[in-house]
Amino acid sequence: MWDFPLRLLGGLHYLVLAHQASWDDIGGALDQHQEFLSRWTEEQDVQTNEVQRAWALLPGFLSLADGRPFDLLELGPSAGLNLMWDRYRYRYETGEWGTGALELTGDDRTPPPAELFARRVSVARRRGIDLNPVDVTTEHGARLLQSFVWPDQTARLERLRRAIETVRDDPPELMRGDYVQSLPALLSDRREGTQLVVFQSASTMYLDPSAMTKVRAALHEAARDEPLVYLTTGRAPEDDGFALEVERYPDGGSSRLAVFDFHGEWLDWGR
Ligand SMILES: C[S@@+](CC[C@H](N)C(=O)[O-])C[C@H]1O[C@@H](n2cnc3c(N)ncnc32)[C@H](O)[C@@H]1O
Repeated sequence: MWDFPLRLLGGLHYLVLAHQASWDDIGGALDQHQEFLSRWTEEQDVQTNEVQRAWALLPGFLSLADGRPFDLLELGPSAGLNLMWDRYRYRYETGEWGTGALELTGDDRTPPPAELFARRVSVARRRGIDLNPVDVTTEHGARLLQSFVWPDQTARLERLRRAIETVRDDPPELMRGDYVQSLPALLSDRREGTQLVVFQSASTMYLDPSAMTKVRAALHEAARDEPLVYLTTGRAPEDDGFALEVERYPDGGSSRLAVFDFHGEWLDWGR
């Protein structure tokens, strides 16, 4: 199992966060919690949700705004932290946007145009579907997500904790399932007067090409009567981060908006 070390460290961090173990006595923790750790490493996938990506996604969402409220559907949201993107505060070289307890900023090497940050949006609905959705309204869910952020990454942990609080205030609708199978049904549930925006970050990269073809076919089919947009992270030309792309359906036309760091630390708008 290639990710065994990550699982083991995640399990140990989970115990530390639960005040059942200490980093000062790893040997003791391995002895004392042998049963828990062997079950955890066997059963618990590495599960993350990087809210810093919202800093790179935000200008993409703003560029899609057409005056109607958004009807959001996220593919692979994990705990849905990025489904709450409009509830955070953002800072860029060219402007600021939003309010909220969590401020996100980064290195905008090529910043998005200032006029984007004058746009106001509203969200009518936020849904997400994940094979393993994480319910951070529970102690276990919140601890699980934190356990896969390493303890010396203090800024990242702090961001995560604030995002968890935001979710807890008004949790999005998270469904358990495989979006490759469930997408047609989810897309047939449209809200009148809204703009359907399907999005994903760091999830479809795990699909094989035939599954991705199925996802695109579902988007195409669902947009026959009413258009929809798909905001997605793909491969950057130089493979140094994600490409932020918009696909517009039913025609499927695609354009690249930016390239950003895999975790959203830097952003090159327009590359
Ligand atoms: C690396 S995480 C990224 C989570 C989040 N999108 C982010 O940017 O932080 C990938 C997520 O996609 C989910 N996932 C992968 N394939 C899926 C599928 N076919 N159906 C539903 N969820 C899937 C995984 O369970 C996991 O929660």
